[in-house]
Amino acid sequence: MIKKLRKGVLPVAGLGTRFLPATKATAKEMLPVVDKPLIQYAIEEARAAGIEQFCMVTGRGKTALVEYFDVAYELEHTLRERDKTEALAILATTHSEPGSITTVRQQVPLGLGHAIWCARAFIGDDPFAILLPDDLILADQPCLAQLVEGYYETGGNIVAVTEVPREQTNRYGILKVGHDDGRLIEVTGLVEKPEPKDAPSNLSIIGRYILMPEVIKYLALMDRGAGGEVQLTDAMAKLIGQQPFHGMRYKGRRFDCGDKIGYLEAQVAFALKRSDLADAVRAILKNYV
Ligand code: UTP
Repeated sequence: MIKKLRKGVLPVAGLGTRFLPATKATAKEMLPVVDKPLIQYAIEEARAAGIEQFCMVTGRGKTALVEYFDVAYELEHTLRERDKTEALAILATTHSEPGSITTVRQQVPLGLGHAIWCARAFIGDDPFAILLPDDLILADQPCLAQLVEGYYETGGNIVAVTEVPREQTNRYGILKVGHDDGRLIEVTGLVEKPEPKDAPSNLSIIGRYILMPEVIKYLALMDRGAGGEVQLTDAMAKLIGQQPFHGMRYKGRRFDCGDKIGYLEAQVAFALKRSDLADAVRAILKNYV
């Protein structure tokens, strides 16, 4: 029997060095795209996919991420007194179900794999989703909801994948590909950041995963991989052959908001999707190009 997916892990303990100095005193995941921080997009996407329990893996200087989903009593009181119903409705979208968000600390950022291992007590014996909030995906059906459909079809591990230029394989986790029906891809191997000449394909994992809890026992070995970090990809690779493992070509556009260009492009793409902003943004862009 396939277990229902209810849990989501959001690793947010990275240093965000590519975004300094903005990330010196603010978490990267609090950077807004248009008017919403990245973390809220991730939580909303997870909720739309049926996730009910969240664990944020945080680190130093990340408390704003936790505060963000609290009720802001003073602010809401003032807005109520001033009859600001629209602003109150916007704030309501940041409220979370009481008790639905827990946090664990990753004291030292030893890598994404280590961050997930820090959430092991939360994960327990259940399947879980991982969402990396700096990967922002514009899609008609949210990306994680697409993966959940794949999970119930395949009954095992499934990751969202996209094609990347050959010369960039050394930035990503890359798939070795078995049977490929155009949507679901059987994964026969995984390599983290291979050089283009060694890459088994140009299909890269992006920041959406559904994994079985057994991955934790491989993470617990604390093997260091690419960049000297505990790599999630290396632990996932050990599940192949023991459990179903698939990649899914999701429908949508992904923006790497941990990177300056990806972030700027996301601003434009998301603003152009907004009926209250699209015309004005288009007019501004015309002035520049
Ligand atoms: P990145 O590879 O984007 O690293 O992490 P980073 O530290 O956030 O940013 P740069 O590369 O220095 O600019 C991918 C995701 O994994 C989390 C990050 O918070 C991000 O969501 N992460 C990474 C951790 O939680 N802990 C880690 O030790 C490393």
